[in-house]
Amino acid sequence: MPPIAQRPRGTQDLLPADQPYWEAMSGTAKDLAERFGYLRIETPTFEATDLFVRAVGEATDIVSKEMFTFKDRGDRSLTLRPEGTAPIVRAYFDAGMQLEPQPVRLYYLGPYFRSERPQRGRFHEFRQFGIEAIGDASPLLDVEAIVLGWKWFGGLDIGGIHLLLNSIGDDVCRPAYRERLRDYYRPHLAKLSAESRTRFEKNPLRLFDSKEPQDQELKQKAPRMVDHLCQPCAQAFQAVKDGLAAEAIPFTLNPELVRGLDYYTRTVFEYQHESLGGAQNALGGGGRYDGLAAALGYRVTPGVGFAIGLDRTAMVLKERKPLAPPAPDVWALAVDPKDELYVFHLAGTLRERGLRVVVDPGAARLDAKLRKAAKRGARVALLVGPEEREKGEAVVRDMRLKTQVSVAEREVVPTVTQALSAG
Ligand code: HAM
Repeated sequence: MPPIAQRPRGTQDLLPADQPYWEAMSGTAKDLAERFGYLRIETPTFEATDLFVRAVGEATDIVSKEMFTFKDRGDRSLTLRPEGTAPIVRAYFDAGMQLEPQPVRLYYLGPYFRSERPQRGRFHEFRQFGIEAIGDASPLLDVEAIVLGWKWFGGLDIGGIHLLLNSIGDDVCRPAYRERLRDYYRPHLAKLSAESRTRFEKNPLRLFDSKEPQDQELKQKAPRMVDHLCQPCAQAFQAVKDGLAAEAIPFTLNPELVRGLDYYTRTVFEYQHESLGGAQNALGGGGRYDGLAAALGYRVTPGVGFAIGLDRTAMVLKERKPLAPPAPDVWALAVDPKDELYVFHLAGTLRERGLRVVVDPGAARLDAKLRKAAKRGARVALLVGPEEREKGEAVVRDMRLKTQVSVAEREVVPTVTQALSAG
């Protein structure tokens, strides 16, 4: 009979061998975020569907084809969160954070869900580290977000990050630019790919996202948002560029960077890495979203943040830097299973001292158990045979030097500690 169930498509098991990478990523995230004054928040893994429809935008790929949406028993439409910014803005108002000193700086680590066609670096369930600074429109916060993300990659020793930067304007300058873009494309509609024709109607800025060869020539000559920013947007963009230059963070201006979520205004950015290739080369991205709160029905409230894909980053990290799960300090075993509880007690004493101690149960042969200890990388073995048990002693064996001593029970802790510090 085949096994009852398989791992669902587009998901991953994060196995013990993967965990050191995940711990490095989340540890660096927590440490860095807190050093910048960001505090942790976690929101539910599902929300009312309408939250994402209104925040991310009906015409986006995420909302139109990638959401895991279901009905609860009361026939309400719920969606597994495809991203974190909309839920966090909702939580900010739900918890009354708009009444606290602004900006409110938040960070988060958790799973997200998008029903994209699974491929390398693209999953149905994936995890993000993200930050949001809500309640202040200063471009310094854009700089802060970009620098924090940059330093996170640096803290993990991931080089080769390519930072792309653009401004997509705001409600003042974007509508006029959008019409200018439509005017430019209108005489050439017949030449465009089907997807680009849809984008022309629904969201012309996303015409820049097209990878279709037939769209490239028109795209290159299209008018650019950065050349049509209103004065306040242009000033804010200049402040962001100056801030990054002052922090010596290298970036590339990319007027084609529009991002796949509708809530952005002004600054947008992406961290890319060449090793992932293709459409999955974005390790993270973010930007400012000064219109998002209002789109959700709250008071107009500015915000800026990013999210980094941890599953993709783990792939890069694994290629660059081997990390191993922690090996046990001590492998404890009884030669005769009837002495097991005594060994279990000794192991407990060692754990009290903060050591990692694995008790190996059962009646296997001593040499088989020692081979297991070596395979798991234990530095010391603690052995109790009938003779030791009788005398209230134990054998402490240095697994590397292959030497051992028999010591009284009260000497076990100092002897083991000494053997561990000797290596
Ligand atoms: P996003 O660009 O949609 O932005 O996602 C951020 C990152 O999540 C991507 O760069 C990628 O690394 C990872 N990611 C997205 N989809 C998948 C997938 N199917 N499989 C694996 N990894 C994936 C946002 O989510 C915004 N909420 C970011 C933000 C925060 N903007 C402002 N604040």
